[in-house]
Amino acid sequence: MVEELDQNTVRTLIAEAAEARRRAYTPYSHYQVGAALLGKDGRIVTGCNIENAAYTPTICAERTAFFKAVSEGIREFRAIAVVGSPAGETLTQYAYPCGVCRQVMAEFCSLDDFEIIVARSEEDYRVMTLRALLPECFGPDNLG
Ligand code: THU
Repeated sequence: MVEELDQNTVRTLIAEAAEARRRAYTPYSHYQVGAALLGKDGRIVTGCNIENAAYTPTICAERTAFFKAVSEGIREFRAIAVVGSPAGETLTQYAYPCGVCRQVMAEFCSLDDFEIIVARSEEDYRVMTLRALLPECFGPDNLG
């Protein structure tokens, strides 16, 4: 069993996700998301959603963080914090990762050890495993 995430780490991840959310580029949906991805080596890589006039090239905050990390050589991950709400300072909802982002997580993360934190503040958050969010998934093991 993997060690529990300590509360300081969770708070740091939420704070970094909130900071990244400020950089969201969302002229179309005005829905701003930030993510902070924790590598097993302790490094944190952030991401925000980046929209596009052609709509489909839009990328979610979670995938921005994953692709940044993988492109920097980080492939082992411990947790991700996600904050999202309509534009504005206040986080009014828990923003659960979309299905495509869950699938990307399953490519790199252990279903039982990787934890997803969805937060409305540093004190108000929910933590769940990737398996809870993506049960019975198709993943690298199917091909390998
Ligand atoms: N979005 C994310 O960044 N992450 C998710 O998991 C769900 C949706 C973004 C994409 C788009 O820019 C906006 O939120 C509205 O869908």
